[in-house]
Amino acid sequence: MKIAVIGCGYWGPNLVRNFVQSNKVRELICCDLDQKRLDRMKNLYPSVNVLSDYKELLKVPDLDAVVIATPVKTHHPIAKEFLEQGKHVFIEKPLTHSYDTALELVKLAEEKKKVLMVGHTFEYTAAVNKIKDIVENGELGKILYVSCTRVNLGLFQPDINVVWDLAPHDISIIMYVLREYPVSVNSQGKAHFKPGIEDVATTTLNFKNGIVAFVHNSWLDPNKIRRTTIVGTKRMLVYDDVEPQEKIKIYDKGVEVPPYYDTYAEFQFSYRYGDIHSPRIDDYEPLKRESEHFLTCIQKGLCPLSDGYSGLRVVSVLEAASKSLKQNGKAVSIKGLKILAKKFRNNGNGFLMTNGWR
Ligand SMILES: NC(=O)c1ccc[n+]([C@@H]2O[C@H](COP(=O)([O-])OP(=O)(O)OC[C@H]3O[C@@H](n4cnc5c(N)ncnc54)[C@H](O)[C@@H]3O)[C@@H](O)[C@H]2O)c1
Repeated sequence: MKIAVIGCGYWGPNLVRNFVQSNKVRELICCDLDQKRLDRMKNLYPSVNVLSDYKELLKVPDLDAVVIATPVKTHHPIAKEFLEQGKHVFIEKPLTHSYDTALELVKLAEEKKKVLMVGHTFEYTAAVNKIKDIVENGELGKILYVSCTRVNLGLFQPDINVVWDLAPHDISIIMYVLREYPVSVNSQGKAHFKPGIEDVATTTLNFKNGIVAFVHNSWLDPNKIRRTTIVGTKRMLVYDDVEPQEKIKIYDKGVEVPPYYDTYAEFQFSYRYGDIHSPRIDDYEPLKRESEHFLTCIQKGLCPLSDGYSGLRVVSVLEAASKSLKQNGKAVSIKGLKILAKKFRNNGNGFLMTNGWR
């Protein structure tokens, strides 16, 4: 296939490396407005071609697909032009900067029968897939709540707040593992440096089945923390993505309430302090899985695991969180629940919609 990667800044080169190494790719074109970034790509991978204006790519014959890793607000206009031309499109997270623009791309991809995939990278990690298995096997019991912390110092983004920057990963992990999407969110935060751009925020996701998830994001923290805690009635799980080994720990800990008691004096919680277990997880590069999956979906006409609807679900949560931030944490309903519910089918393999829709 002939593929183009648009945006070779911080993240784009990781995508370029994986697509260059794929035996499914015969030609790769790198595109960026910044000539220095193109020179760097050409130095690293002499076989790639380079272009500075993405509009020129629209004229390239036999181009199969584009991979977009530009700033978030440019995702929609760029992707729209390529989908309209009948190209397959991969977009880095978050899919777009608003629900309406995300839905427009989803519908366009359906109409043109092209693959639209979003870079929810964590859905391709061995750790998150292990956690999904553990939750689905009932090892943790009934899930009570989830708590995620994704904080570090910087990088301040000029045009999007910390929720749009960091929370897409947490939200996609939560929805992927729980197979549920929230009905409303509350978000509170503060813009300390740039007016209107919150640099710290805590978002609460409220699910219909009673589960609650807390997501804390910050660009103003001395430590890099990437931790997800899932608390169930039987066990508790901690996923620490910064840990080089033993990323997942399952704690056989819990609280038990006595089934019968007559008086308040008899009522006592009992706490269980059991073993801690760290399951083995495979070692592979998630981005390689993700990029190969995109190419396979194009070749075989399949719907990706992180398809346009998956991107739309995350964007709808981000948009509601941003609205809530401006209203001091007031609960905001998720937009488009009916559309999301219609497409939120499960064939037993994650969120795959319908295979072979072409
Ligand atoms: N999956 C992940 O873990 C992950 C990690 C980091 C970033 N991202 C996502 O990747 C995307 C890019 O983020 P980044 O941190 O690399 O940003 P960046 O600012 O470092 O890079 C963006 C690049 O796009 C180029 N660009 C901008 N407009 C362009 C246009 N019209 N045509 C061609 N090139 C253009 C810029 O010159 C720049 O080199 C964002 O959507 C971000 O959320 C994903």
